[in-house]
Amino acid sequence: MPFPRLPRLLDAALDRLVVPGYSKLGYLARSAGWEALPSDALAGRTVAVTGASSGLGAATATGLAGCGADVELVVRDRGRGEAARDTVLAAHPDARVTVARCDLADLADVRRYALDARDRLLALHGLVHNAGVLPGERVETADGHELCLATHVLAPFLLTRELLPLLRAGSPPDRPGDPARVVFVSSGGMYTASLRTDDPEYTEGRYSGGAAYARTKRMQVVLAELLADDLASAGVAVHSMHPGWADTPGVADSLPGFHRLTGPLLRTAEQGADTAVWLAAAAEPGRCSGVFWHDRAPRPTHWLPGEESAAQRAALWAFCVDATSSAPTH
Ligand SMILES: NC(=O)c1ccc[n+]([C@@H]2O[C@H](COP(=O)([O-])OP(=O)(O)OC[C@H]3O[C@@H](n4cnc5c(N)ncnc54)[C@H](OP(=O)(O)O)[C@@H]3O)[C@@H](O)[C@H]2O)c1
Repeated sequence: MPFPRLPRLLDAALDRLVVPGYSKLGYLARSAGWEALPSDALAGRTVAVTGASSGLGAATATGLAGCGADVELVVRDRGRGEAARDTVLAAHPDARVTVARCDLADLADVRRYALDARDRLLALHGLVHNAGVLPGERVETADGHELCLATHVLAPFLLTRELLPLLRAGSPPDRPGDPARVVFVSSGGMYTASLRTDDPEYTEGRYSGGAAYARTKRMQVVLAELLADDLASAGVAVHSMHPGWADTPGVADSLPGFHRLTGPLLRTAEQGADTAVWLAAAAEPGRCSGVFWHDRAPRPTHWLPGEESAAQRAALWAFCVDATSSAPTH
């Protein structure tokens, strides 16, 4: 029997104060009022998770398998993907887990993977865009895109569109109110950035990996809203979320000072991944689309002034279409 839900005002206060809300304190206070997801919530359905070889991606895959899903681990390194599959199977020995290779920083490889997935799979109930990077310096991909932009924005945009036939098949008309779900794993860091369609490739000014990360995490939230509108007629729901602060190899490697300072307060990867799993499996997020979530609740997309204009949103869409339509196929 769960405890009563945290009163809404207290929940919002935790959020505004950042440290209590994003740390494991926020998770523990909120999760006491949650219902456990049924172990058959996703039985017979397939969900793909990018960046599933580590941290939150591996934890998301494990959580989805715990809901009965067949899970596709989309990874750039097969050996690391197979190790993650062993981790998922150790927790859920009966799960069906596939490992598929895809380098999201290479748009041609994204197309190749999507073609392969369309050949192998009948339908996708979920696609979790989890892969992420925080580079120390400005790096360009083989396609000539800044690395955060390529990994967080262009690859998910292209992959969602290329996998649309499978997502449509995962949203059959005889199951209204339970559509296929696309989930963007963004970051609370996006609150610090505005939508920079004037310089999407971050070529102007002094480059900072942290700023590039935050800018592209902001783009993910706007892109989820745009894709939600675009895919409404296909019956596919699109959401974004942020996991709070979780102890993962990514945080330990890219932010060692932050990791040391916040260590005891960090969530486990499983706690950080909870909302992504819930968005794919629960009924409530199937009844809406284009919402930004944290700890199973809708959250504001802006705390500071600087909401993006309709023209900026249209510019982001046009930029993504242009940058991905010119990508070659292997
Ligand atoms: N942990 C947190 O507190 C936190 C907070 C806010 C947001 N997030 C977001 O959560 C997501 C997962 O982060 P994490 O903390 O779990 O970090 P992580 O442990 O570094 O995991 C990142 C994953 O992304 C994969 N990846 C990176 N570039 C890729 C590419 N080009 N192609 C395919 N896969 C690629 C990595 O693959 P390899 O194993 O091959 O490197 C790894 O599996 C990220 O989007 C991050 O921005 C995390």
